[in-house]
Amino acid sequence: ILTQTLFSPPEFVDILEDKRHCNDLRFAFRTFSPPPYKGAPACSSAELNQAVLESQYLRYVIKEVALETESSVEEVRDKVCKIMWEMSQNLQLRFIRLMAFTFRKVFKRLFSAIYVNMEGLQALQQATQEFPVILMPNHRSYIDFLVVSYILFNYDIPVPVIAAGIPLAGMKIVGEILRRSGAFFIRRAIGSDKLYWAVLSEYVRTIVRTGFAPLEFFVEGLRSRTLKSLPPKLGMMNMILEPFFKGEVYDITLLPISISYDRVLEESLLAHELLGVPKPRESTAGLLKASKVLQENYGCMHVNFGRPLSVRQLCEGKINRCQYNLIPRDLPQKPNAEAQACGSWLAHMIVRLQEEGALTSPWSLMACILLQVPTTVLTEEGLLFHQLTEQTLWLRQLALDFRAHLSWPDSDVMSSTVALHRSVVYRKAGRVYLTRNDELERKHSIVPEDDMMRTAAAFLMLASYRNQCLHVFVRPALLALAMSIRKSTRKDELLTCFCFLQEVFSNEFVFIPGKSSQDFDEACSLLHECKAVHVSQWEVTDSDTGLEVLSFLQELLKPFIESYQLMFRFLCEERDCVFREKDFLSGVRTLATKLIVSGELHTYEALSSDMQKNVLSSLRRLGAIIKIEISENNEYKVNKSAVRRTGDMLGKCSKSPPPRSHQHPDIFWVFFIFFSCCSWKNPSADCPGCT
Ligand SMILES: *[C@@H]1O[C@H](CO)[C@@H](O)[C@H](O)[C@H]1NC(C)=O
Repeated sequence: ILTQTLFSPPEFVDILEDKRHCNDLRFAFRTFSPPPYKGAPACSSAELNQAVLESQYLRYVIKEVALETESSVEEVRDKVCKIMWEMSQNLQLRFIRLMAFTFRKVFKRLFSAIYVNMEGLQALQQATQEFPVILMPNHRSYIDFLVVSYILFNYDIPVPVIAAGIPLAGMKIVGEILRRSGAFFIRRAIGSDKLYWAVLSEYVRTIVRTGFAPLEFFVEGLRSRTLKSLPPKLGMMNMILEPFFKGEVYDITLLPISISYDRVLEESLLAHELLGVPKPRESTAGLLKASKVLQENYGCMHVNFGRPLSVRQLCEGKINRCQYNLIPRDLPQKPNAEAQACGSWLAHMIVRLQEEGALTSPWSLMACILLQVPTTVLTEEGLLFHQLTEQTLWLRQLALDFRAHLSWPDSDVMSSTVALHRSVVYRKAGRVYLTRNDELERKHSIVPEDDMMRTAAAFLMLASYRNQCLHVFVRPALLALAMSIRKSTRKDELLTCFCFLQEVFSNEFVFIPGKSSQDFDEACSLLHECKAVHVSQWEVTDSDTGLEVLSFLQELLKPFIESYQLMFRFLCEERDCVFREKDFLSGVRTLATKLIVSGELHTYEALSSDMQKNVLSSLRRLGAIIKIEISENNEYKVNKSAVRRTGDMLGKCSKSPPPRSHQHPDIFWVFFIFFSCCSWKNPSADCPGCT
């Protein structure tokens, strides 16, 4: 399915280009006349709210909740109205115009180009006339959904209503603007609030049923702090599919959208979030102050609209819809196991399609190379520019062999790429060095402890940009890793190891559940095609010409292996078998810092709170730790022998190179630990951002 569902190769048009000289105001006030949806008339937000409130389903739930909580139906109804008031969108065309006007100004300033594939837009326009359309973009930046709405307005396609996280208290004005441009808001932690779930799901279903506007949501749930795709969240997906399973709509169209940035607006914020440094409070005032952002150049942006997918076709034979007919449609009903499995499969597939549609930038490939260079070279000696160029070109060919879509400008690629990312690296006298002059320096310029923190922030930024293209390499890389762990050439043994690695890393990389052997076959054939291995019926053997490729791929995953190993080791060395999540995170941070300073650990990624949390999820999945208390401070119980065993199975491959000679003076890391502990205790560092 994956290969058939993309327009390949996509052909892009710069939507800023053609109108650059035309008046922004005239553009915003042009007639906007999308062809109407044939199924239903337009529906105002008030009508939508009315329909939800008066639905059989909500009436039923209101009665139920009234009984359960021993309150009157009116009281519960009032609560529902409050929830609706907080949640509902208020899409208004005049606001869209205002937004279009503003964004044209802003976008032209920030980006040198916004490329869009016209073929995808045409298919989308067609699709919006036929069935309810669900737009599913990936989520890397705050501006993702503004960009999509802007493009649709541009091309006479109905502007979507968008599921978004509730803006934080300080962002009232921004919240109101978003609401009027079509956003509806979902609480961040719903828990088991039955009434809230009922209102939300009825609201979503009503939007899908009436189909008056496309519905847009981020299947990854959150904005990805690591620029890597996240495993999908399934709740929203299930709500959206329900009207189809119940036969209330004939079909639903899913549309994956891949947004790729050359440079992400929030890049330094991301690294600091991962390191647990308190970030500036998200508030309207904060956003306005972000005028500095407006002075920078963020290169190009690609928005790749995928092919519309018919849920009806995809679910053919997977779902028995008859059973839904046994229960009245209006009554609440949990999706059965079959429907849930189907929802999960679709959600994972969409994320994979988003990955396949993403464009790989030269910078992302460069980041892969830079992260494989010893730390001291980047921080002190400098890497020869022509060496970086040659290796990036080598990697470009490999990425092409692995069927990546590249965005490769014609002239002067390498120099312009390095120049664009001067916040991470800079070039001096034919060599490339790591840049470490971010905000931290200006704020705390007197204290020396920040040196390592700044190095860490710069490396995590590099790692995030590397993550943008990991999906291209991850399957062959897991095979290469399996070959080095098992030291075997037997296909069945390699497959077992490959599946184990997928299991361990399934929070880091997205794999479609139950498709491991397809992934394995894909890895074999890709490595075979680039002549890195020989594949026969029973065996996979490395070829003489393939060593370079294999060792590159193994090195690519090494930061993950090393960081996981470190955290496993931390858990095994702890005295107690019970630990709190908070203590785990700060303990790992301290240990990692110590080992980085002493030269035993070669990656800064173990400091990333994202990876630390992924390790906990992974161990829970493998049954090596169990959550014994769910509250403010999650508590876990660890089975040390199981953790050790998992570590051993990962371990045989990574032999550490001899320790480096360079050492930070002790005082550096004393300050650093102090600093990181302080910042960890700050609750604002831990609070989830706006999605
Ligand atoms: C810990 O895990 C091992 C498998 O690695 C298992 O044999 C053992 O029973 C587990 N111990 C407990 C207390 O669950």
